[in-house]
Amino acid sequence: MFDLQALIDQNQSQELALFGRHVNPALAKVLKIIGYDIRYTHGRGAYLFDDQGNRYVDCLGGYAVHNCGRNHPTIRSAIQQAMDLDLPNLIKMGTPRLAGVLAKQLIESVPEDLDTVFFTNSGAEGVETAVKYARAATGRSRIVHCEKAFHGLTMGALSVNGCPEFREGFGPLLEPCTEVPFNDLTALERELIRGDVAGFIVEPIQGKGVNIPADDYLPGVEALCREHGVIFIVDEVQTGFGRTGKMFACEHWGVAPDVMVIAKALSGGYVPVGAVLSKRWIHEKVFNGLDRCVVHSTTFGQNDLAMAAGLATLYVLKEERLVGNAAAMGNLLMTKLGELCDRYELLHEVRGKGLMVALEFGSPKSLKLKMGWSLLHKLDQSLFCQAILIPLLTEHHVLAQVAGHHIDVIKLIPPLVLTIQDVDEIVAALDAVIGACHRFPGPVWEVGKRLSQQAIKRAVKPQGAQSGTVAVTERS
Ligand SMILES: Cc1ncc(COP(=O)(O)O)c(C=O)c1O
Repeated sequence: MFDLQALIDQNQSQELALFGRHVNPALAKVLKIIGYDIRYTHGRGAYLFDDQGNRYVDCLGGYAVHNCGRNHPTIRSAIQQAMDLDLPNLIKMGTPRLAGVLAKQLIESVPEDLDTVFFTNSGAEGVETAVKYARAATGRSRIVHCEKAFHGLTMGALSVNGCPEFREGFGPLLEPCTEVPFNDLTALERELIRGDVAGFIVEPIQGKGVNIPADDYLPGVEALCREHGVIFIVDEVQTGFGRTGKMFACEHWGVAPDVMVIAKALSGGYVPVGAVLSKRWIHEKVFNGLDRCVVHSTTFGQNDLAMAAGLATLYVLKEERLVGNAAAMGNLLMTKLGELCDRYELLHEVRGKGLMVALEFGSPKSLKLKMGWSLLHKLDQSLFCQAILIPLLTEHHVLAQVAGHHIDVIKLIPPLVLTIQDVDEIVAALDAVIGACHRFPGPVWEVGKRLSQQAIKRAVKPQGAQSGTVAVTERS
């Protein structure tokens, strides 16, 4: 008989070795070097647990998929129910029972006029879809995107990715695509005015670094797109489903995109799923004839388990008022972390919305610390935050990640079920670690030095990191 538990038990001691041998050798090495090679055994809500009985507060949230908390019983039960019903899954030449229901509920939760839904299996696939939609709707080809944008790593999505570190080595990419600075309406107008732009894609809050636009930016983008007949694509893959204290981040600025891409948290952390919501006229331009009714499609789209997970996720978000909790806990977290800014000269800014929070570090004033800061940055631009994150995880059991390449920013994106006690735990942990890095020489600086020496020795070059670094910057 097939026995999953027995398989897990048999292979428990080899987890990292198997992953390192057959899945991602570079990542396995990095995890070992930085002490992240913890054997997690289970997860529940905002916590992860390891085989030593330790509990960790998860401020990474599986790259923001676990908005409802890990292994939520309602979502798990919905998937189990879907399986027990022996549904006629993936008929393809038939109408799936749950896709229409989820589509209707999604449409009810987004800005007006978005009333058609295309289901995908990931965020990047949603971005690919949006790019095709923009081209089909306008008959133009150029896509404009922002510097530091992250929209996924498939070929089309990579072409509108504003981080050169991810693009390097994979060209030539999709053309024509043009990059403009985020938060710069003049630069955007300069491109749109040329009349050849199909779509402009933007994250309402950039995941890389948690960059928040000025209040007039997104309304200005919407107006410019309307004026120049450009499809306004909002990528809510990371910011959606309550992450920023609103159901979708574009609500903060009251904008109404033509196309919205969502994914991540819609899965409840269980089943890959995403969706592209669009205005009907755009949809009709893509599927513009009976012979083209599946001109854009994907085999696993609309599958019952994903639809069930999505429906249960919407239910849980509402029942447990998680969007409001994200706003409240986010405010509390940022207020408390803001107080650390006053005490620690290395911590320059705390910013964010809801539970998408960034801590930005910067050069200190005092001479001694300045020495440590320059030394570490000379060794590697990305090491400082990693040196903070290691003791944060190994000593204080809080999991988080660096928010981008070559920036001194840590990002916190915990599940939205966070409690006041969790907030206190996170703040106390950061207080202790940031406090320690204000002693030079001191343990945090030693960690940084050790990391860079090990990296040089092993010549590790993990994906997404500078040559020789062990600072695994956030991928999403
Ligand atoms: C804003 C944004 N768009 C798109 C993607 C790509 O999503 P996926 O990893 O599911 O392909 C991500 C992933 O992190 C993201 O943060």
